[in-house]
Amino acid sequence: MKKLVCLYGTPSELVNGLNERAAEYAAEKELEYIWKPMQPFSEEAAVEALRGADAGIIDVEPYDKKIFSQINDSVKLLVRYGVGFDAVNLPDATEAGIAISRTTAANAEAVAEMAFAMIMGAKRQFVRNRNCVNEGKWVRNIGSEMHGATVGILGFGAIGSRLAKLFLGFDCRILVYDPYLPDEAAERAGVKKVDIDDIFRESDAVSVHVPYTKENHHIVNAERLALMKETAVIVCTARGNLVDEEALYEALKEERILGAGLDVFAKEPLPVTSPLIGLDNVILTPHVSAQTREALWNMYAKAIDIAAAFLNGEDIGRDLLNPEVLGKAK
Ligand SMILES: NC(=O)c1ccc[n+]([C@@H]2O[C@H](COP(=O)([O-])OP(=O)(O)OC[C@H]3O[C@@H](n4cnc5c(N)ncnc54)[C@H](O)[C@@H]3O)[C@@H](O)[C@H]2O)c1
Repeated sequence: MKKLVCLYGTPSELVNGLNERAAEYAAEKELEYIWKPMQPFSEEAAVEALRGADAGIIDVEPYDKKIFSQINDSVKLLVRYGVGFDAVNLPDATEAGIAISRTTAANAEAVAEMAFAMIMGAKRQFVRNRNCVNEGKWVRNIGSEMHGATVGILGFGAIGSRLAKLFLGFDCRILVYDPYLPDEAAERAGVKKVDIDDIFRESDAVSVHVPYTKENHHIVNAERLALMKETAVIVCTARGNLVDEEALYEALKEERILGAGLDVFAKEPLPVTSPLIGLDNVILTPHVSAQTREALWNMYAKAIDIAAAFLNGEDIGRDLLNPEVLGKAK
């Protein structure tokens, strides 16, 4: 049997159970599934764990030629457990003859629901209202409704498009910035394509769903935050460094916008010295948008499906992130 080594996951009752289920599911596809969770991550430990495997399932840590060159005797494919692949050096992987994939859309519902929850929570000032209760102050901070409001979405992929569906159910006007989205697709989805600055100017809530790339570094910056309405909120569940955290801190501290929600940070774990932690108009969570029981299983199942198909020589279509590798694979 071909070997699939999974490096994702911190041992816990839930994850242990999912791994047992993953092993059974993989066996049905004639794959031997081996779970080697790494705490903490190191390049040496990753190489040690993956050596001799046919394929691997990896998490969000950086992978480049230092690792690839030591495992490419056997490893033909690495699947990112999740969808963001900014930490994987694709040209290095191609050079080493290793295919890279991701579990496209497997966590889209989970992340869209998180963005939705953060927008609603920021609009109704959950943190500030909760602090009032904790401190024995019965101050009723006034929020505003999302019904009929304008929602701005940066990046209309698997997650952004699902978030739009949720807010269309609230009769919202949906503005989208995504240069790769064909006009007909926007029209079909009932959303309007606009320039990025119009997203910030016109929206009551802005949600970020673009991948992290050098070009997208600080796509949410001081200038764009300055365009936002005083009553608007901004949420980022995509990647740290898409938002300039210092500029966001200033905008929140000076109450130039109503609130924010961040699930991802430039540095994770977020240092306890971060000034964001002291604010009562921002919801902060520890990169948990995809952490639902449903999404965790969807990602395991999709990773195993992809590995089984690829190792059988089948076409894995758009799940393959470096198709150039096909000419190079050993
Ligand atoms: N917090 C979490 O746990 C978590 C979980 C899943 C995904 N994510 C992040 O969310 C991001 C989006 O996930 P997805 O599944 O929707 O990905 P996706 O690939 O389906 O969609 C990304 C969309 O962004 C668009 N895009 C790319 N560059 C752009 C730019 N410069 N400006 C505007 N649009 C641009 C693409 O055309 C695409 O439509 C991922 O890249 C990942 O980093 C975070």
